[in-house]
Amino acid sequence: MRLLLLAATVPLAAADWAGSGACRKCHATHSDKHSASAHALALRPALEHPLAPLFRTGDKPLLRDGFLFAFTGDAAEGYDRENQVELPLDWAFGSGKRAVSFVSRLNSEWHLEHSFSYYPAAKRFLASPGQTARPASLKEASGLLRDQSETARCFGCHASGPARFAADGSVEVREAGVQCEGCHGPASDHVARKAKLGPRKKASGEVCARCHDQAPPRENAEAWMVRNQRASLEKSACFAKSKGKLGCMTCHDPHSAGVAAAGFNAKCGSCHKKLPAGHGGNCVECHMPRSSPQPGWIYSNHWIGVYGEAGKSVPVRRLKKVP
Ligand code: HEC
Ligand code: HEC
Ligand code: HEC
Ligand code: HEC
Ligand code: HEC
Ligand code: HEC
Ligand code: HEC
Repeated sequence: MRLLLLAATVPLAAADWAGSGACRKCHATHSDKHSASAHALALRPALEHPLAPLFRTGDKPLLRDGFLFAFTGDAAEGYDRENQVELPLDWAFGSGKRAVSFVSRLNSEWHLEHSFSYYPAAKRFLASPGQTARPASLKEASGLLRDQSETARCFGCHASGPARFAADGSVEVREAGVQCEGCHGPASDHVARKAKLGPRKKASGEVCARCHDQAPPRENAEAWMVRNQRASLEKSACFAKSKGKLGCMTCHDPHSAGVAAAGFNAKCGSCHKKLPAGHGGNCVECHMPRSSPQPGWIYSNHWIGVYGEAGKSVPVRRLKKVP
């Protein structure tokens, strides 16, 4: 009896993280597909990012409200007439499909989200989103200060498993990027004894929403809503009237999470078998139009609908009952 009581009060060992290396042995196809995806590359130590050789401004510094910034490959320098700061480049967020933003440790409490990001399509540095307008000091112009809880949020979506902080405030991640266990959860029991792993088919959209309903409140103005793919999708007539049949996996393969420009017509066609005569072309171009809340940040509107002018983020027709 005593023993039983004791056992009952010992907390169950939390399932442990196995690391994506452990999955390859039995799931090579999934591993190969996934390792080439944007998810796998969503975070890297800056100097290990595949685009690292491009993180340089050369002899032309960047100008921001009278403050100058230069990227030297392994550091960022900011200066005005009196002051100078040098910051190591610690972490690179973003695979480089759209943008790469840098996050550096300042001290044991604070990280800095740099004011400039690298935009591969434009092949240059441009402003990061959400920065303070009209900065009054070099410090303010360098970027946004992030405390540990804000920093941990960034890593919570761009790494697998929760981030931890060392005594000097530097971040330790289990695995950088959205790797297998970033979606499937800690899997050591599965590796050791084939314990069942989530997500269950029906709940798989929830897995995506954890990270993909993400535009933070300060960016939640209409234009940035396109980053909240789930909330946007759920406003569509397609979602509201298809009785739960439309989810992320209707159009995306979670293991490549690639966005093949071709192939979407067939997805629409799986429900829309009859269209008005003469109706055709690339469905998503008109019904999920691209929009850009800020230069370099380009998204497809997941609120599927009939749009008027180009660039509008709300369809001209709306369902009455959908929020
Ligand atoms: C020793 C071999 C082995 C290893 C290692 C392994 N798996 Fe599996 N996994 C299996 C087998 C066998 C199944 C049974 C499903 C099937 O028929 O393919 C499975 C099924 C799954 C499923 C489907 C859901 C379920 O529970 O049936 C997921 C998801 C999964 N594995 C993820 C992972 C991840 C993530 C890793 C690495 C952390 C991993 N597996 C490592 C053998 C393995
Ligand atoms: C742990 C957080 C997380 C989860 C869970 C997650 N994603 Fe992502 N996803 C990201 C991040 C971060 C990126 C940005 C990658 C980059 O930097 O380009 C991304 C990018 C994507 C992209 C764009 C890929 C591209 O090639 O541009 C698609 C599509 C996508 N995710 C679909 C999904 C789907 C579907 C699910 C659910 C099965 C899912 N994601 C779950 C974090 C997550
Ligand atoms: C709630 C989850 C979440 C949090 C928190 C988060 N991100 Fe992301 N991030 C994503 C997802 C999902 C994507 C890819 C799709 C998108 O942007 O809609 C992404 C994409 C990016 C990109 C690439 C551009 C792009 O849109 O693909 C950068 C750069 C980035 N995030 C930086 C950061 C930084 C820096 C922080 C912390 C200040 C942060 N993220 C916090 C989920 C998150
Ligand atoms: C972006 C989220 C995400 C990531 C990252 C991810 N998976 Fe999955 N995986 C899913 C979802 C969601 C399902 C269920 C598919 C469905 O509902 O149709 C799934 C299903 C599976 C299955 C069951 C067979 C199948 O394809 O349906 C296996 C095996 C599996 N994943 C292994 C892996 C391995 C190994 C990795 C890492 C290399 C990995 N997954 C990374 C989201 C993810
Ligand atoms: C899972 C099934 C399903 C899929 C997949 C789907 N739709 Fe729909 N869609 C519907 C249903 C159901 C309606 C509502 C029809 C009605 O009200 O008669 C709808 C309505 C629409 C409307 C009218 C919207 C409005 O506000 O009046 C458009 C446009 C549309 N879909 C385009 C698309 C496009 C483009 C795709 C592919 C990117 C797509 N749909 C994928 C089920 C789907
Ligand atoms: C009806 C089809 C469809 C559904 C359902 C769908 N997507 Fe997409 N998704 C697309 C298309 C089309 C693109 C743009 C492809 C391109 O640019 O080539 C896209 C692109 C993306 C991107 C890249 C950034 C962007 O906005 O262009 C992310 C991230 C993404 N989807 C996440 C999701 C998530 C999460 C879900 C579920 C909540 C989801 N998608 C459901 C069709 C869909
Ligand atoms: C060149 C732009 C364009 C393309 C490409 C396009 N559509 Fe449309 N679609 C429209 C417009 C505009 C309307 C609204 C027409 C109207 O109300 O008479 C519409 C209406 C619809 C409707 C609602 C019909 C109704 O009567 O309620 C559906 C469903 C739809 N489109 C699906 C698709 C699918 C599926 C594809 C790809 C095969 C596609 N569309 C390609 C512009 C386009």
